[in-house]
Amino acid sequence: MSQQVVKPFYRLIQGDCLKVLPTLEAESIDLLVTSPPYNLQKEYEQSLSEKEYLQFINTVLEESYRILRTSGRVCWNVPNQIRIHRDGDLWSPLVKTANLMEQVGFKFFDILLWNQNFSDSATAWGSWKSPSSPFIRHQCESILVFYKKTWKMKGVGSDLTTLDFMRLTKSELWTMRPETDRTHPAPFPLELPKRCIKLFSYLDSVILDPFLGSGTTMKACQDLKRSCIGIEIEPKYCDIVRKRCFGRTFLDHEVEYEFQVFDERVAVSGGYYTVNHSHVDVTGVERKNE
Ligand SMILES: C[S@@+](CC[C@H](N)C(=O)[O-])C[C@H]1O[C@@H](n2cnc3c(N)ncnc32)[C@H](O)[C@@H]1O
Repeated sequence: MSQQVVKPFYRLIQGDCLKVLPTLEAESIDLLVTSPPYNLQKEYEQSLSEKEYLQFINTVLEESYRILRTSGRVCWNVPNQIRIHRDGDLWSPLVKTANLMEQVGFKFFDILLWNQNFSDSATAWGSWKSPSSPFIRHQCESILVFYKKTWKMKGVGSDLTTLDFMRLTKSELWTMRPETDRTHPAPFPLELPKRCIKLFSYLDSVILDPFLGSGTTMKACQDLKRSCIGIEIEPKYCDIVRKRCFGRTFLDHEVEYEFQVFDERVAVSGGYYTVNHSHVDVTGVERKNE
């Protein structure tokens, strides 16, 4: 395995990803790992109509497509079904997002099933012991895995061991306990981005999370020595990210940190957030944006 000489960087941008994403350089990101808002009236969500919500996700996907490299990949964590309003119909973020991804131009690779494996004996009630309107309790969420144009990805430095590779590829069912720390209202467990990042990216990859929340994706990138750009709209969650990730030091490598509060006026006036992503490994192989 060749060693990296590039320093991993960790960039947190406090702002609306609808405004920040258009300022990121085209074809500069290798892997996007995220869990978006689902319009469930959580404390960080605006109440949108289904049409408005899908338009929002569509715009994020279009911009993500532009900034991903040709072989760039997306791991998008979504529930299979939700009910937005108490008496409303069920609908599927999984199905709707997968459709949008295809419309935007992404190619389908897989749907990984995050099995949360509750070991209690509870059941969904619905019409108890009658087929009139039963409900099914959900123990799984999905991770949509799509890519931009080509599945084969070049990069420098794979840290997948035999055991990692076997564990991560032997089944599409990934069993991971949900996160119990509720500093943020809807975090995913650290294990989720770690698995995606390890299997789908190289050591010199740049990972993006446009809905960074409490910074779980950034923490996973740090643990795996990858660079990360995270966007989060809520200042209080950015504070959590800074406490959790910024200032961590590592014995065997140096890192760079950057925190920016997005300023539309500066960004619009010219390429503010470019990703300087030309990496050179010890063998002198340079990988430009490809
Ligand atoms: C499901 S949570 C992500 C949780 C994250 N995976 C974690 O482990 O903490 C979605 C996050 O997206 C943020 N968000 C919502 N709309 C946003 C927008 N337009 N731009 C950037 N962040 C946004 C919310 O504040 C929330 O923290």
